[in-house]
Formats: sequence, structure tokens, C-alpha cells
Amino acid sequence: MPLDDCRIIELPKIQDPRGNLSFIEGSRHVPFEIKRVYYLYDVPGGADRGTHAHGKLHQFIVAMSGSFDVLLDDGEQQQRFHLNRSYYGLYVCPMMWRYLDNFSSGAVCLVLASEYYDAADYYRNHDEFLAAARKARA
Ligand code: TYD
Repeated sequence: MPLDDCRIIELPKIQDPRGNLSFIEGSRHVPFEIKRVYYLYDVPGGADRGTHAHGKLHQFIVAMSGSFDVLLDDGEQQQRFHLNRSYYGLYVCPMMWRYLDNFSSGAVCLVLASEYYDAADYYRNHDEFLAAARKARA
């Protein structure tokens, strides 16, 4: 199942009394080359983000500060992940409906992506996503 491909990945953490350091290298710590970076911040209490899927895009989501939840749905199974450490991230494979909520105040959500922004790669309608996911499984 596609959901089984999605997983929490622990990043390198260089502990130092001056402050810790983590790093992410494309195709080494995440299973794709990184073409784009974006981040969500100043998320008001009670807001949610995402609520869409991508046909081809691979993504890696990190709570750089604060915490939030990511709900993944491959059309058959759902799983909720709580992200609250800057040295853990969630790999999200293609064809995965995602929904982000439960943002703590001051949370910053960093996303590494395998492609440039492409509006045509989005599924914004859940029924259309379910039909495409079903077809991909057949
Ligand atoms: P979107 O991915 O739709 O986020 P959400 O589903 O949480 O609302 O992005 C919101 C807007 O930002 C949308 O108009 C597209 C734009 N956008 C870019 O221009 N480039 C990007 O890399 C991303 C992620 C979004």
C-alpha cells in the first residue's frame, strides 16, 4: 500500500552545547532529489492546510519549530502523524491525500519537494483523488 511507503525519517543531529545542528541531503536522507523548499508559518490557531494530493510529487515535511499533525490517506487507509521535533521528518510519497492541523502557536512547517510548483499535479477534489487512486491500484 502507498501508505506503507510513507514514514518518519530520523535526521542526523550534531549535538553541541552551542546549539544542535541537523541537515538534509537530497537522495541521501530523503528518497528524492530536492528541487523546491517552502514553509508554512504564522498559522492561526484552529487553521488547517493541505487537503489535497499530488500525482507525482514526493515531499518531506519537518516541524522546524512547534508541532502539528499530518493526516495521510491513500484512499484505503489513513494514518495520523504528530510532528514535534526538528530532527524528524515525514516522507510523503505521491498519490497521498494530506491534511495538516493541530498547529501549535509559532509552528513552522518546512516542506522539501521533488518538483517545482505545478498546479496541474494537484488533486483538490477528494472523490477525483479516490477514483485515480483506485485506478492506480487496479
Ligand atoms: P497550496 O499548496 O494550495 O496549499 P494549501 O493546500 O495548504 O492551501 O498552496 C497555497 C497557494 O500557494 C496556492 O495558490 C499555490 C501557491 N504556491 C506556490 O505558488 N508555490 C508553491 O511552491 C506552493 C507550495 C504553493
